[in-house]
Amino acid sequence: AMSGVESAKKIAAYKAVEENLPGDAKVVGVGSGSTVVYVAERLGQMANKNQFVCIPTGFQLKQLILDNGLTLGTIEQYPTIDIAFDGADEVSPGKLDLIKGGGACLFQEKLVASATDNFVVVADFRKKSPQYLGTNWNKGVPIEVVPNSWVYVTRRLKELGAKQVILRQGGSAKAGPVITDNNNFLIDADFGSIKDPAALNTKLLAIVGVVETGLFVNMTKKVYFGDEDGTHSVWQ
Ligand code: A5P
Repeated sequence: AMSGVESAKKIAAYKAVEENLPGDAKVVGVGSGSTVVYVAERLGQMANKNQFVCIPTGFQLKQLILDNGLTLGTIEQYPTIDIAFDGADEVSPGKLDLIKGGGACLFQEKLVASATDNFVVVADFRKKSPQYLGTNWNKGVPIEVVPNSWVYVTRRLKELGAKQVILRQGGSAKAGPVITDNNNFLIDADFGSIKDPAALNTKLLAIVGVVETGLFVNMTKKVYFGDEDGTHSVWQ
């Protein structure tokens, strides 16, 4: 049987697709991570599945889109997206700001999210922040950087108050740093609890070498959570 977390991911993804996919959708964004696997699965069951193309945010979903019998498209072909579904590492209530990038795909995720007015997040209950971002997710804000800027960016991040700054490593899967789908590095910068994500995001983006940040501010329309008791809830 599926674990509680796994069924929570599945119900969030299924309900989000069923309740939000427009019948006349032409272009659908699909993000990255373990929850959107169920988004691709449910999209592949929809009656109108041959009427829309799916735009992935990285290598992982590109393959899953094909595996589910869906049509693949690129953001270059379709810079306007009708609706996009993606996971998150943490969601704050109210403005529905997010931390993303735990899966290293934040740049293309933000590109796709920016290309739609209907950005719908799917997540399990562990992603609900009680108030501020940086509460449940304590690995820091993921920041994609141009490789040779990482030492300079690290210095700037510390000046901005980051308590810990780590160049993300491949771990047992790879000696050396993680290389993103865009051939960049990833830094995880711990700013503790983030009271003003918009202000922090602006400061981070102003550092030369920073390509994008995992702070998704003012972008999310709705969040579907799978809850511990097997039901789901929606923040909007
Ligand atoms: C990828 O870079 C992330 O932003 C993912 O969207 C995020 O990590 C959510 O992944 P899960 O659905 O696996 O929690």
